Amino acid sequence: MPLAERSGVTSESARWHNLPVFVKTLMVDDPDARARFHHEGRVAASLNHPGIVPLLAVSPTQLIFPYVAGGTLREHLELGALDVEQATAVVLGLLDGVIYLHAQGVTHQDLKPENVLVKDGQVTRGAVRIIDFGMSHARHQPLDIHSGTRMGTPHFMAPEQFYGMRGDIRSDLYSVGVLLFDCLAGEPPYRDALGWLAGIHTTRAELPGPAALHPLMSAALSRDPAQRPESALKMQTQLCRARQTLGLPDLPCVAREQEKKKMHTATAILSAAGGERP
Ligand SMILES: Nc1ncnc2c1ncn2[C@@H]1O[C@H](COP(=O)(O)OP(=O)(O)OP(=O)(O)O)[C@@H](O)[C@H]1O
Ligand SMILES: [Mg+2]
Repeated sequence: MPLAERSGVTSESARWHNLPVFVKTLMVDDPDARARFHHEGRVAASLNHPGIVPLLAVSPTQLIFPYVAGGTLREHLELGALDVEQATAVVLGLLDGVIYLHAQGVTHQDLKPENVLVKDGQVTRGAVRIIDFGMSHARHQPLDIHSGTRMGTPHFMAPEQFYGMRGDIRSDLYSVGVLLFDCLAGEPPYRDALGWLAGIHTTRAELPGPAALHPLMSAALSRDPAQRPESALKMQTQLCRARQTLGLPDLPCVAREQEKKKMHTATAILSAAGGERP
């Protein structure tokens, strides 16, 4: 049964080779819609990370993904704001996926709670699954999606995207900042997001959650991309530190894991070199 139809694409859950799947079907013969649909398929097919829903199969008019039961983060936020442990864990999980995407030369450009699934309804780091690469930009793909008609959601869209520029990694980090705000407050920072994006007003709701999270959140929400965290990796490290300050269970950040791996490799190389010494 079709769940939704948007921009000439219907979405439905189905079974495929006895697997529960989520199928997107292109319903119109419009070159822009087709280019966008194929772009989404090509980007999704190029990705391989546990925090990103993989593409199982593709045809000229269909994209088939595994069905992830548990709902979107938006559906969870409709039940109420998350507590600090849950909000920071979910955003750490989101950043796991974003760190991977950026390392592949992909920016998502439409990160928002509707595009984050939480597997089995668990609001944890490991349950996060990113979907919807319809707005993404990939270094290795020809289509410049931002020149099309579909725009992101004003609440989560960075100001530079609103002004028609193609977003970059820092635009994604802006969206992650808004998402953290939304998780903690139960609503995004601006009542009139379009007015704020257009520079008509600067009224933002007070930063929610504990003060230890405020420097990170206010930097990510900066109008000026240069004031935002430098990378998803750095943003995640800051978030891990804030969790430590707050006495929350230690969740390892990717940067620390990468450091450890480098140390192991260096030690292995040194001992191999030492072993070969006469
Ligand atoms: N793999 C999946 N498993 C379960 N539900 C999914 C899956 N992929 C998407 N959905 C559901 O379908 C909705 C729309 O999917 P998606 O965001 O990929 O499509 P879209 O056409 O680009 O929609 P939108 O314009 O709303 O962003 C999601 O918000 C989610 O509720
Ligand atoms: Mg979507």
